[in-house]
Amino acid sequence: MWKFLESKEKNNKNNIEKKDELNYNNIPKHVAIIMDGNGRWAKERNLPRSFGHKVAVENLNKIVKEASDLGIKYLTLYAFSTENWNRPPEEINTLMKLLVEYLRKQLSELNKNNVIIKTIGDISKLPNICIQVLEESMEETKNNSGMVLNLALNYGGRHEILNAVKNLFKEYNAGNISKEDVDNIDVNMFNQYLYTKDSPDPDIIIRTSGEQRLSNFMLWQCAYSEFWYTNVKWPDFSKEDLHQAIKDYQLRHRRFGGIK
Ligand code: IPE
Ligand code: IPE
Ligand code: MG
Repeated sequence: MWKFLESKEKNNKNNIEKKDELNYNNIPKHVAIIMDGNGRWAKERNLPRSFGHKVAVENLNKIVKEASDLGIKYLTLYAFSTENWNRPPEEINTLMKLLVEYLRKQLSELNKNNVIIKTIGDISKLPNICIQVLEESMEETKNNSGMVLNLALNYGGRHEILNAVKNLFKEYNAGNISKEDVDNIDVNMFNQYLYTKDSPDPDIIIRTSGEQRLSNFMLWQCAYSEFWYTNVKWPDFSKEDLHQAIKDYQLRHRRFGGIK
């Protein structure tokens, strides 16, 4: 049964269609979030940026649970970009420590909720302790059958594409793929060389904090993703905001280049 109200009320001021309820039969399969604004959230409160990151992790926990309850199959969270190494070492340290703390504290709960932990990005460049905890978490949750929680860590879309090309060359030079394979390379084959090879493209990309850019996130995979922006900063991003993003998504007309 369709759970959403048939009535769509028009918001006259912005001329944006608003829907009152979520349609649980049309939950996006893959939701990706650029969790932004932690520093500004803290600054507004005269607190150190690190405090913003701390509250951000608490929030992340809440949103992960909600996404899993909603029946989202893949949740990708942009947590640390290839460009975030340009930040002061103390801030990078804080972020890495928070990652370890989050996984150590939440692993059993995530496991109980049947969540599968995965990563995208070059995690080999993270501090050893992060790699260790991530590997343990992935190993421990690999046989679960619920939502895939994809953590984008040391992730950059350009790096991912270059890495795929390099690996293709390597395989060709090693004789593992033929000249004919290379001549026939297509989207499906190329996908197999990306970090995201096991997941579908994101249906919706959410960015918090008012910035309207990708900042090197999922450049290949976002070809037909719906974009959704909010001024709300990540530490304040609520379940209701997630619901609103999905409600708006459900009003979009995805044509994939065709006609409806
Ligand atoms: C997002 O918040 C977290 C990371 C990029 C790791 P920011 O730290 O970018 O916060 P702002 O954008 O400076 O407010
Ligand atoms: C994007 O946020 C990266 C993450 C959320 C992890 P940034 O704060 O790094 O992006 P810019 O610098 O504002 O583009
Ligand atoms: Mg930012």
